[in-house]
Amino acid sequence: MKSMLQYKRVLVTGGAGFIGSAFIRRGLETFEDLEKIVNLDLLTYAGSEKNMKAFTNDRRHFFIQGDILNTRLVQTLCQEHQVEAIVHFAAESHVDRSITEPQAFIQTNILGTFSLLEVVHQNPHIHFHHISTDEVYGSITEGFFNESSPYRPNSPYAASKAASDHLVRSWAHTYKLSTTLSHCSNNYGPGQHTEKFIPRMISQCLEEKPLPLYGQGLNVRDWLYVDDHADAVWLILNQGEKGHIYDIGGKTEKRNIDILHTLIDLIAKKTNKNAWMLRQLITHIPDRPGHDFRYSMDPAKLTHQLGWTPRHTLEEGLEKTVDWYLA
Ligand SMILES: NC(=O)c1ccc[n+]([C@@H]2O[C@H](COP(=O)([O-])OP(=O)(O)OC[C@H]3O[C@@H](n4cnc5c(N)ncnc54)[C@H](O)[C@@H]3O)[C@@H](O)[C@H]2O)c1
Repeated sequence: MKSMLQYKRVLVTGGAGFIGSAFIRRGLETFEDLEKIVNLDLLTYAGSEKNMKAFTNDRRHFFIQGDILNTRLVQTLCQEHQVEAIVHFAAESHVDRSITEPQAFIQTNILGTFSLLEVVHQNPHIHFHHISTDEVYGSITEGFFNESSPYRPNSPYAASKAASDHLVRSWAHTYKLSTTLSHCSNNYGPGQHTEKFIPRMISQCLEEKPLPLYGQGLNVRDWLYVDDHADAVWLILNQGEKGHIYDIGGKTEKRNIDILHTLIDLIAKKTNKNAWMLRQLITHIPDRPGHDFRYSMDPAKLTHQLGWTPRHTLEEGLEKTVDWYLA
């Protein structure tokens, strides 16, 4: 596709992770005039070379295994590759881990973001897009979160992301940096780590192992197919207003128990497994401490200002996801 990309040399952090790799793949397949993606990823337990398979041979992609906390490395990469924008996905991202081992979240999510902002501060021609989450807003019983909702993070993960958002806001304000920021709802799709709900349930079903569900599975999440998140970020990067926040969501709210039943039916349809038998594997486990009951995002600003709508319905996205795990 021909395009008018605003930034043609982009440094992506966390591009070997689930969403970062989808962002790179979508960028390379969509924009002919994208000159370079410099992909900086530490390859923690969450990153994988498999996620980069679709683009490892693309001559525009440069992978560097390294830490975002290494400010000097980031500075050198920006100079060497004449980077015009940084899109910052790298993070510790699993809420359960943040409850048992919060240290890494403070380190990567807060100090890591600080390290990148310091590089942008030294190189103010570089635009900085920060990837954040709906979890910074906390839980909502009725209605939707939007860009003016107050921050009420409840888990150590959400607090570390909220802190990084505040750093971005204050660095932009104080040092007049060019930034944009997006909060997205729960992503799903191919390549997600099996510690997360949907891939975990799919792989447990395929192995006919117990399907652990927090409490009664009544917690509500707003789900978005990963490529739709990736496309939204490209759109914001190209056309978003500097200094603005954009909320991204699928407007597809489901209780965890309902997602699980849909997955079971899909897997039963596509394999020789019996849906009734799979349902017997559902095991209710004690709830996560401080578990947020419901997240809900209103992406109206992104839709009205930039014309974004997700391309996948939940049914299509889940089917693609199950097919990927089956393959
Ligand atoms: N997964 C979701 O549903 C979701 C929803 C909204 C926002 N987000 C945000 O999107 C971003 C990406 O999430 P994800 O699900 O792809 O996460 P992920 O855990 O799959 O990937 C994170 C990547 O960051 C890399 N990384 C970690 N520490 C690093 C460091 N110090 N230096 C360099 N690289 C490092 C890891 O190796 C991994 O490849 C995160 O910022 C997360 O907060 C995720």
